[in-house]
Amino acid sequence: MKPRYMIAILLVLAAAVAVWFLASPSQTTQTAVPVTGAMHSGADTQAALPEDQVILPELSAEAAMGRTAFGAACASCHGVNAAGTDSGPPLIHSLYRAGHHPDQSFVNAARQGVRAHHWRFGDMPPVQVALSDAELASIVSYVREMQQANGVN
Ligand code: HEC
Repeated sequence: MKPRYMIAILLVLAAAVAVWFLASPSQTTQTAVPVTGAMHSGADTQAALPEDQVILPELSAEAAMGRTAFGAACASCHGVNAAGTDSGPPLIHSLYRAGHHPDQSFVNAARQGVRAHHWRFGDMPPVQVALSDAELASIVSYVREMQQANGVN
C-alpha cells in the first residue's frame, strides 16, 4: 500500500476516535469544539482559555504596538489576550503555531477573512478596521510572543 493511503487511513481513524471522544458525556459541557482539531492537536478540544491563566509576557516594542492594533481589530472575537471568546478561537493554540499557520496566514485572514474549517464559530469576515502591512506585522509579533510565553511554539 502507498504511504499516502496509509496516512489517509490513519487520519480517518484519528477522526473517528476524536468523534467518539467528543460524543462521550464528559465532553458535553464544552461549548466550542474544533471540527478537525483532533487531526492537528490531539485531544486538545477546549476553546477559550481562562483569561486568568494566560501568561502576559513583557512584550517587545513591536508586539506592544501589535497588542493595540489587535485590541482594535481582532480582540472582539479572539479576546484581548488572544485567548478566544464566544465569537472566535484562541490564537494561543497549537493550531496557530508558526509551523502550522505561518505569518502570512494572519495577513490573509485579516484581509480576506477565513471560512470556518477548524471550529464551530462560523466564518471570520474580512476585518473592517483598515490595517497597514506594518500594523499586521506587529499583530503577528504580538500573537507569536503571546504564544511563546504560553508554551505554544
Ligand atoms: C468577527 C470575528 C473575528 C474577528 C474580528 C477576527 N477573527 Fe480571526 N477568526 C475568527 C474565527 C471564527 C476564526 C476560525 C475559523 C475556523 O473555523 O477555522 C478565525 C480564524 C483566524 C485565523 C486562522 C486562519 C486560518 O487560516 O485558519 C487567524 C490567523 C485569525 N483568525 C487572525 C485574526 C486577526 C489577525 C484578526 C484581526 C486583524 C482577526 N482574526 C479578527 C473570527 C474573527
